[in-house]
Amino acid sequence: MYRVALTTPDDFDGWRAAARRLAMHGIDPADVVWQVEDDGGDLFGGGENLPPDRKDAAFSVPRAFVDLAEKAILHRDPERFALLYALLCRVRARAGAMEDKADPLLRRVDVLAKAVRRDMHKMRAFVRFREMADGDGERFVAWFEPEHHIVRANAGFFMRRFASMRWSILTPDISIHWDGEALTQGPGAQRGDAPDGDPVEDVWKGYYAAIFNPARLKTGAMMSEMPKKYWRNLPEAALIPDLIAGAQAREAAMIATAPLPVKAAAKRPGNAAAAWAALRDEAMRCTRCPLHRDATQTVFGEGPIDAPLVFIGEQPGDQEDMAGRPFVGPAGQLFDRALAQAGVDRSRAYVTNAVKHFKFERRGKRRLHQSPDAGEIEACRWWLGQEIDLIRPRIIVAMGASAARGMLGKAVTIGRVRGAPIALANGAEAWVTVHPSYLLRLPDEERRIEEQARFVEDLRVVGERLRALAGG
Ligand code: URA
Repeated sequence: MYRVALTTPDDFDGWRAAARRLAMHGIDPADVVWQVEDDGGDLFGGGENLPPDRKDAAFSVPRAFVDLAEKAILHRDPERFALLYALLCRVRARAGAMEDKADPLLRRVDVLAKAVRRDMHKMRAFVRFREMADGDGERFVAWFEPEHHIVRANAGFFMRRFASMRWSILTPDISIHWDGEALTQGPGAQRGDAPDGDPVEDVWKGYYAAIFNPARLKTGAMMSEMPKKYWRNLPEAALIPDLIAGAQAREAAMIATAPLPVKAAAKRPGNAAAAWAALRDEAMRCTRCPLHRDATQTVFGEGPIDAPLVFIGEQPGDQEDMAGRPFVGPAGQLFDRALAQAGVDRSRAYVTNAVKHFKFERRGKRRLHQSPDAGEIEACRWWLGQEIDLIRPRIIVAMGASAARGMLGKAVTIGRVRGAPIALANGAEAWVTVHPSYLLRLPDEERRIEEQARFVEDLRVVGERLRALAGG
């Protein structure tokens, strides 16, 4: 029997080094016992007895296995190390083993990895810092109870996201602390060690109440996305019962004033409304490209599901990233004014972005917009394509080069394609115009006024074309 003692419950490097040695000597998974030193029990009576390392020998495994193993190892299941070693042996013995979705071992490991990803997502979404003063000034402290050993693996996200703050995240297993330059670790803590409320909370609660959308309220989905166990750490959770109670009345008011209620779309075969809601929920967990790591959340499209007109922007900006809705910041305000001048009703259009996560570069406390690259646009076309398939608009307007690439699947020069319809394979017409942010950035006032008028004219033409297509 071989024995492996890992230093911590998330010791992937230790597991990998030991697994490599064992696998190179062809050691059967049934002959290995895995343990974490932290766990206390002196199962082995001290030390490991691994076979010798064969550093000279080549050893390679598919990237997909490493990605899966890095996540699954963070699960609390005590069997995870052994399961992963058994899967490693299988992957080395049989090409294509990672694609064999019917394999119960692969499926079991996949379930572990999925639970870990979900827990990491929850931590990113539900950690709420409270301000407190320590000897060195202001510090933000949060309490969180993860289900799995995800805290160290998630630390990079919080370091990047809150780079200029001093913060601590306390959990029952470990605590992590950031001083603006280095991350340190300490022992686990108790809930009472974190502060319980502060002035920042009132601002946050006001903001949450303002963005709460009654029409999107699905209590079941909300409970699964935001399980009650997290509520006690969330300042906004205190508002939820009242907001739910008032939601029906607010939703009725919204439906009464909405020109194209979702109900009409729900009559379509296959129930487009439910399909759209499921798609959006799935997109909230998207990890198709690295942008999800630093963004606050996925910003999905919004508007009537049977909208005849779809607008595509580039990606959410700083304010959209916080609010979770497209085009609500400065570019959105310019867009709204231009639509009003062109006589196009935004509430009848579906508004979305080519890329659904905010890409930025941090400069001090500011997050500066960065354009998405071709790979990020391509990764996100999967969502855009599905939104368009569900909505089946007559006209799609791409605003800016990234939006045009997302819509057409290739790069175009705006000046060449602007002002004329492009026939799409799905029967819709595509139009391309500039992005509102481009207009905001033009330094010369005269030019800006001219270009804004041109943008309004593009929108007016689209509105007219839509009326013509509708026969009215
Ligand atoms: N710019 C975009 O392209 N989309 C938004 O949602 C906001 C700004």
